[in-house]
Amino acid sequence: MDRIKITGGARLEGSIPISGAKNAALPLMIASLLTEDRLTLKNVPNLADVNLLARILRNHGVDLAVDGKRSGGTPHLGETFHLTARDISDTTAPYELVSRMRASFWVLGPLVARMGVAKVSLPGGCAIGTRPVDLHLMGLRELGAEIEIDAGYVIAKAPKGLVGGHVLFPTVSVGATHNVLLAATLAKGETLIENAAREPEVGDVASCLVKMGAEIEGIGTSTLRIQGKPRLEGAVHTVLPDRIETGTFAFAVAATGGDVVLEGARRELLRNALDTLATTGASVSDTETGVRIQRNGNRLEAVDVETQPFPGFPTDLQAQLMALMTRAHGTSVIRETIFENRFMHVQELARLGADIKLHGDTATIKGVKALRGAPVMATDLRASVSLVIAGLMAEGETIINRVYHLDRGFERLEEKLSRCGARIERISAG
Ligand code: EPU
Repeated sequence: MDRIKITGGARLEGSIPISGAKNAALPLMIASLLTEDRLTLKNVPNLADVNLLARILRNHGVDLAVDGKRSGGTPHLGETFHLTARDISDTTAPYELVSRMRASFWVLGPLVARMGVAKVSLPGGCAIGTRPVDLHLMGLRELGAEIEIDAGYVIAKAPKGLVGGHVLFPTVSVGATHNVLLAATLAKGETLIENAAREPEVGDVASCLVKMGAEIEGIGTSTLRIQGKPRLEGAVHTVLPDRIETGTFAFAVAATGGDVVLEGARRELLRNALDTLATTGASVSDTETGVRIQRNGNRLEAVDVETQPFPGFPTDLQAQLMALMTRAHGTSVIRETIFENRFMHVQELARLGADIKLHGDTATIKGVKALRGAPVMATDLRASVSLVIAGLMAEGETIINRVYHLDRGFERLEEKLSRCGARIERISAG
């Protein structure tokens, strides 16, 4: 297994291109199941999760062609995918594939909407929490799907098609919102989704669906009103920039000191996180091409944060903020309200000398004078990248094991950081 070696202490200077958002690219690719026509997605990041979903979609009969990488051009624009689901040859998403990536469960809604039947493996839990799918099933039942669970599979049927309904989510779920929104575009009549997730990736998917001929009101709000259509058409859509990658690099610059422009980043996608960063003492400003982060010698101030659905502070940046706070002046309190077990980075950060106490959903981080490099283990995607940030701050050498977690969600991480002066390299296993 590959490892990453970091020698800490280098300032970051220069620019980092921000890739297309993983968490938008995945549901956008799934949207291709809704139409016989071609859906072209630009700026798709080259990530392990994207490649795995491509395999799953091919298994359903989706034809996928990828344009050659552009030469020159805008450096932060990713690949172009052409997805055509002319015939769906298989409505089953098997355990072997779904169990490796939760988002693949989101094929359920589009498949039952278009084909009247779908059989999708339950995704199971994962390292960050139990992550049930009750809200997905509740929403699809409201649209008339008959759902049973048998031998680890969810079997959804709507032989006469789905019908519009009223879905009121008791708690905000990004995935359940995607699943029901995608399905509702092909249901008969109107669907009202209340307490929908407002994450920018949901808005990006909704905008793409509108280009495909869907009628959706309330994009960007927690109330979505969808008029179902008998069929959708092809479209061309560009995946929005990754706000979590943006935040991660922004925190890394604040952690090491330096001056970096995050090319293609859009501040409004993560205003809360960047405002939080500014209160730690880093400077955040807009440039013509992206967002500039600077910290020059001034001390890092501790901040208290609670993770919340958008527009609150994102859970996907909680670990990275914690890494930064290990060196802050004073004590920071971070409460995780979205996932019950998203603190695996705590014990790894402690190996580098961080002083963190955990009480239920709350971590108290007392800033220390220095971290010392050590061997650590990546546990999930965002936890892993928090170890990269800590390694960049630490004295000496940090070796991160199990970096396949990083490859699921960060494109060319070592390259992007080393171009800005970080001493980071991948040690290939074989
Ligand atoms: N939940 C339920 N029942 C459900 C669905 C969710 O109880 O049927 C709970 C979850 O257990 C969790 C909370 O609701 O406690 C929120 O979960 P949500 O459904 O919003 O999460 P998700 O859709 O599974 C997406 C992202 C995650 C991100 C969360 C929260 C993708 C592919 N995944 O997951 O991203 O943390 O929303 O913003 O979009 C990551 O990229 O590393 C990642 C984990």
